[in-house]
Amino acid sequence: MSNLGTEENPLRAAIVGSGPAGFYAAEALIRSEPVVSVDMFERLPSPFGLVRSGVAPDHPKLKEPILVYQRIAQSPQFRFLGNVTVGRDISAKELKDCYHVVVFTCGAQTERTLGIAGEHLAGSHTATEFVGWYNGHPDYRDRVFDLSHETAVVIGQGNVAVDVCRILAKTADELRHTDIARHALEVLAKSKVRDIHMIGRRGPAQAKFTHQELRELGNLPDCDSIVDSHDLALNPASHEELADRSNRANLKSYEVLQAFATRPPPARRRRCHLHFLKSPVELRGKERLERVVLMKNRLQGEASRQVARATGEVEELACGVLFRSIGYRGVPIAGLPFDEAQGIFPNRDGRMVDGGNVVPGFYVAGWIKRGPTGIIGTNREDSVATVNSVLADLPNLDAGAKPGADGLKALLAGRGIHVVGYADWQKIDAAEIRHGEAAGKPREKFTRVEEMLEVLGPLPR
Ligand SMILES: Cc1cc2nc3c(=O)[nH]c(=O)nc-3n(C[C@H](O)[C@H](O)[C@H](O)COP(=O)(O)OP(=O)(O)OC[C@H]3O[C@@H](n4cnc5c(N)ncnc54)[C@H](O)[C@@H]3O)c2cc1C
Ligand SMILES: NC(=O)c1ccc[n+]([C@@H]2O[C@H](COP(=O)([O-])OP(=O)(O)OC[C@H]3O[C@@H](n4cnc5c(N)ncnc54)[C@H](OP(=O)(O)O)[C@@H]3O)[C@@H](O)[C@H]2O)c1
Repeated sequence: MSNLGTEENPLRAAIVGSGPAGFYAAEALIRSEPVVSVDMFERLPSPFGLVRSGVAPDHPKLKEPILVYQRIAQSPQFRFLGNVTVGRDISAKELKDCYHVVVFTCGAQTERTLGIAGEHLAGSHTATEFVGWYNGHPDYRDRVFDLSHETAVVIGQGNVAVDVCRILAKTADELRHTDIARHALEVLAKSKVRDIHMIGRRGPAQAKFTHQELRELGNLPDCDSIVDSHDLALNPASHEELADRSNRANLKSYEVLQAFATRPPPARRRRCHLHFLKSPVELRGKERLERVVLMKNRLQGEASRQVARATGEVEELACGVLFRSIGYRGVPIAGLPFDEAQGIFPNRDGRMVDGGNVVPGFYVAGWIKRGPTGIIGTNREDSVATVNSVLADLPNLDAGAKPGADGLKALLAGRGIHVVGYADWQKIDAAEIRHGEAAGKPREKFTRVEEMLEVLGPLPR
């Protein structure tokens, strides 16, 4: 009988990605019965994925899961290997050679595209870039956002779109004491944006944002949220959707929208206009974005399956900057199967599959497993389910002893990779908190990888 998962032969697991899915997978493995050792690989020197670089800076409470992840990281069975990109610094095969199992939790690192003319005009950006920029993600440090125009457009009606609208709608004083990146605060403080238009392709009963986020958008000190009451008219299928008890969240959002529609005329400095049943069909402009062409839609289909269909009627909206907030998308890793249509790693119950066959020892969890939906907590259940698949497979896994990270040290050093351990991250973390103190911020994030590595001194030999 295999001795895998015993003191003599611990189950060596590599986790790729240090967002919620990665930490919840680590927690589930560490809490499981077999003896395990977990090494977490992260491409940035900083852990926590979108909790650090996605969750809005003015929502510090929503970043509290980090406290849980910090506790998981203290486990003696856990090691962090930051600043290592799997698929570039080390291949998936090299990783597998050193571990019994590899769990990919690398999230959805890029964005979906609209596929319309003018999408890439100057002034047209993705929410992914904007969010990464204001949250200090090194990939987006040098992006430039010209906020010298009065009108901004946000395409999409999910919670990310609401985040983008709220950050554009807030004053610098409202953001100053958050962990927003300094470079972003400087640009936002000079913003001339006065009208923000959030455009949804379906109706008010189908919008993806949650009522809490919507209500918050309607309670900003310097911005009025505006809805035209005519836009709130519902077709019979939408009535049916809102009457469904399992759809109470959308009903609550609809009620918030109704309240917006009956407010007195706007008096604040900025305005956020919510539009429904409109899709962008073209972005126009000579040198840069000047106008968005919107197609009016109607809904078609049965309740809960309604889709937007073009009516043929178009309108134009002049704007200087536009953000496409239509969802995220996973990116492939060399040597691994990839589902192009869904932008995920193909899998069955968290087991990676290639052409219908399970790839032994490879697992997935989080956004790269199921696509870019769900809040932080959703990933816990998802990672536990994947770890249950790992545990069920234990008797059939290759039980030969594996070296884990010790087997990779020489290889990574030979490639000049400065591996950032958890204690190293704690030094970077402490430096960020120290730098934030003078400005009254919870932290001043390092926004370049080199700045983070500088805190640690020269590469250890
Ligand atoms: C803008 C935004 C705001 C959000 N705000 C909230 C909120 O307020 N509240 C809430 O509950 N949910 C929020 N969510 C949802 C939540 O962030 C996600 O559900 C969650 O982060 C997904 O977890 P994940 O671990 O799958 O992916 P991620 O959090 O993206 O983590 C993936 C990690 O993998 C790393 N990685 C990627 N590729 C590699 C590689 N090749 N090698 C090594 N490492 C790699 C990445 O750097 C990253 O650290 C938000 C999402 C977005 C996009
Ligand atoms: N505070 C929070 O809790 C918080 C904050 C941010 C994010 N999150 C979570 O993170 C996840 C991702 O959020 P998200 O906002 O990126 O995604 P999302 O909730 O899936 O919203 C995507 C939006 O884009 C629209 N869209 C997609 N393709 C489009 C197209 N081709 N043309 C026009 N519109 C298009 C969708 O419309 P359709 O509905 O018609 O497809 C939808 O309105 C969600 O689960 C969200 O709740 C949570």
